[in-house]
Amino acid sequence: MSQLAIHGGPKTKSTPYASPNRYGDEELSQLTDVIREGKLMCSYGTKVGEFEDAVCEQFGCEFTIANSSGTASVHAALAAVGVSEGHEVITTPMIDAGVPCAILSQNAIPIFADIDIRHGLTDPASAESLITPRTRAILVVHLGGNLVDLDAFMAIGEKHGVAIVEDCSQAHAGRWKGRYVGTVGAIGAFSMNESKHMSTGDGGFCTTSDPEVARINRLFIDKTYIRDGSITGPQPLPFKGVNYRPNCLSAAVALAQLHKVEANISRRREIVARYFDELSDLPHFELPIVLDGAEPAYWPIYTRYTGAEPPRSEIVAALNAEGVPTATSIGPGQNVLRSDLISQKRYYPCTDTVPAFWRDTVYDLDSCPNVDEFMRQLVTMPVDYRYTDEDITQTIAAVRKVWDHYFG
Ligand SMILES: Cc1ncc(COP(=O)(O)O)c(C=O)c1O
Repeated sequence: MSQLAIHGGPKTKSTPYASPNRYGDEELSQLTDVIREGKLMCSYGTKVGEFEDAVCEQFGCEFTIANSSGTASVHAALAAVGVSEGHEVITTPMIDAGVPCAILSQNAIPIFADIDIRHGLTDPASAESLITPRTRAILVVHLGGNLVDLDAFMAIGEKHGVAIVEDCSQAHAGRWKGRYVGTVGAIGAFSMNESKHMSTGDGGFCTTSDPEVARINRLFIDKTYIRDGSITGPQPLPFKGVNYRPNCLSAAVALAQLHKVEANISRRREIVARYFDELSDLPHFELPIVLDGAEPAYWPIYTRYTGAEPPRSEIVAALNAEGVPTATSIGPGQNVLRSDLISQKRYYPCTDTVPAFWRDTVYDLDSCPNVDEFMRQLVTMPVDYRYTDEDITQTIAAVRKVWDHYFG
């Protein structure tokens, strides 16, 4: 057995992972269209509408509304399904800060359900147990491109009259029983920041087939301006909106990225299939289970090291020394329940004042033990559609070498 790199032995993954520029000729050509048209604002140029139509066609929904980020998408999705001040939104605390921030931006209260440790996704039973008369939505997150049990959540939503909002920011073009994520719940929310399956650097979009949800979403992200030409006089300004407008340059890149997304996730599935085939036998190494009916759109995958000795930090250091870029965090790197934002209800940056709608909420920081356990065990495995077969062969060899050393 060769010596671990961390102990001075040879590094298994000695060459960098393939990382060719993900933007190319098609992005340039779409961008050229926009510049030639000479109109960059979404309501003046045509590219945002073109992108929105293309998403509807490809994912199979009636309406797509582009916006400026994933956080904007989640906020606008919640507003569009009627989430308002004092409503509760149930979600996972193992998540990017954009999720609780978006809920709070609507003056709604984030309520945190526990996960099923076998896959790290929200446990439907935990979410259902938290429903109160104030619950307006369950915001399910297809974390790491793995898919929540949408059948279970849709049934819970129907039973309690609660909207199911899908956060698909890590799962573009994943499918649940043949339907694209974001088209099963009342509305889907997507991020297009640079780490995502589709990237415009920053950007986002929402998908829905409900005309009223789409109408409110579109008004909400544009200060409630009606821009379809039907208004000639003053704008009515029917409620408070925000400015989350996208622009035509982002839409140009988004359109090119949309055309590549299926190939991107197919390659990701091939890579993860190899991890399942070639690493499943390792002790104390748990790959996430995938539910029947789910066709994931893997991101980095969230695997767990369940051993006690050596500590996870040593395993991670050994993997990193072998050249495998594992991480031990999701989003802000902690259970969001334990962040200052939530545990101390820090709504404002410069004062401790808790706004009235949030004042009476009491968080039990230990209420999601599976999240805490998952975050103690998490060791991500690298997944990127650009990786070569050799990259994956070396990654697997590095993991096996580390495991052989400690558990062989
Ligand atoms: C699941 C999820 N939701 C929302 C967001 C927020 O997206 P953005 O950074 O584009 O605002 C992210 C970002 O990582 C995310 O992963």
